[in-house]
Amino acid sequence: MRKVAIIGVGCTKFGELWERSFRELAVEAGVRAIEDAGISGEEIEAIFGGNMSAGSFIQQEHIGTLIADHVGLASLHIPACRVEAACASGGLALHVATLAVASGWYDVVVAAGVEKMTDADPNAIDELLAASTDREWEAMQGATLPALFAMMARAHMQKYGTTREQLALVAVKNHKNASNNEIAQFRSKISVDAVLRSPIVADPLRVLDCSPVADGAAAVVLCAAEDARKYTDTPIYIRASTQACDFLALHDREDLTTVKATAVAARTAYKIARISPTDIGVAEVHDSYTIAEIMAIEDLGFFEKGEGGRAVEDGATEIGGHIPVNPSGGLKACGHPLGATGIRQAVEITLQLRGDAKGRQTNAEIGLTHNVGGTGGTAVVHILSRSLP
Ligand code: COA
Repeated sequence: MRKVAIIGVGCTKFGELWERSFRELAVEAGVRAIEDAGISGEEIEAIFGGNMSAGSFIQQEHIGTLIADHVGLASLHIPACRVEAACASGGLALHVATLAVASGWYDVVVAAGVEKMTDADPNAIDELLAASTDREWEAMQGATLPALFAMMARAHMQKYGTTREQLALVAVKNHKNASNNEIAQFRSKISVDAVLRSPIVADPLRVLDCSPVADGAAAVVLCAAEDARKYTDTPIYIRASTQACDFLALHDREDLTTVKATAVAARTAYKIARISPTDIGVAEVHDSYTIAEIMAIEDLGFFEKGEGGRAVEDGATEIGGHIPVNPSGGLKACGHPLGATGIRQAVEITLQLRGDAKGRQTNAEIGLTHNVGGTGGTAVVHILSRSLP
């Protein structure tokens, strides 16, 4: 298999973008990534687009072709497809695109992600998000997505003594980081007290423990690593790209306090990259809910199981801490337009490794992205690096 590099990145602003359409967002992110790579559209051989649910949110299917068409590549008749794994659709699109270049089938491809959530009826959002869970065994019994994460939070609190304040500190850190990110949905800092006073969504989780409903798109251009320096002086290499799945419904899982798909995807990724968790200098993890970040930093091996809450409390995941987590603001504050998120994470880590992350810059040689579908039925991990060994 060939090594693969990221040579261009692009992202729209994330948020409630009432005046922007799905296709406009996809085109803006794609064009930005192509311009950043300094290539012409004719050099793109395939497009892989992550999207969870355009059919439900905007009644539009056939997303691959829609993106290729509106980005101006329809006349080239290149292959373009949609990739779906609920909230991990973007990460999975990057995984598939990486394999496509690594296999030697294509030399230059685009991996993109886009979602337009705010056009849906606000009263229907819970139902649409529940499509990422087991419809028969969970959603139809009344378990919403936040309710399932709330059960995980309760289990973690009971088993490891994780506190309500520690959950809140995840949101406080991520809002602080997002205040330095011009694409972020929420750029306001918040306090622990504000989190604890925000309305209950599913006990113990409150509004400020949740990622928001959002619109946005992101794109990256990939090529074979051996060609990368023809296009850019700062290629970022994909050292590992892995996906793992797990039982879809929570009741079938051994332990509610761990996302096994994350642990397996991470373990495989470290093995492929021949590194250990201690080599990771910065990470963008899937904090769809504050408890999700605490479980992620444990399952990714950054901290011992049960120590995640304490690590956050000690500042170990702050920029400048032991391992900066979600310098972008994460899903919580940068925003979470489902299918766009996994690609947006790769954009952030690329900027971090290039040294282009401005006020939220960390000091890392190797970074990690972690994207989860639903409550953890899917996890996708990428390890990115400034250099190849
Ligand atoms: N974080 C911070 N602020 C939020 C927020 C969030 N997650 N969600 C909403 N707000 C703010 C809004 O900006 C708005 O502020 P304003 O009054 O200053 O304009 C206010 O809270 C009310 O917003 P509204 O849209 O009416 O909130 P809501 O009660 O309908 O929705 C949630 C709140 C938490 C239920 C909703 O954001 C949600 O469902 N989040 C989870 C999304 C999710 O599960 N994604 C998939 C994860 S894998």
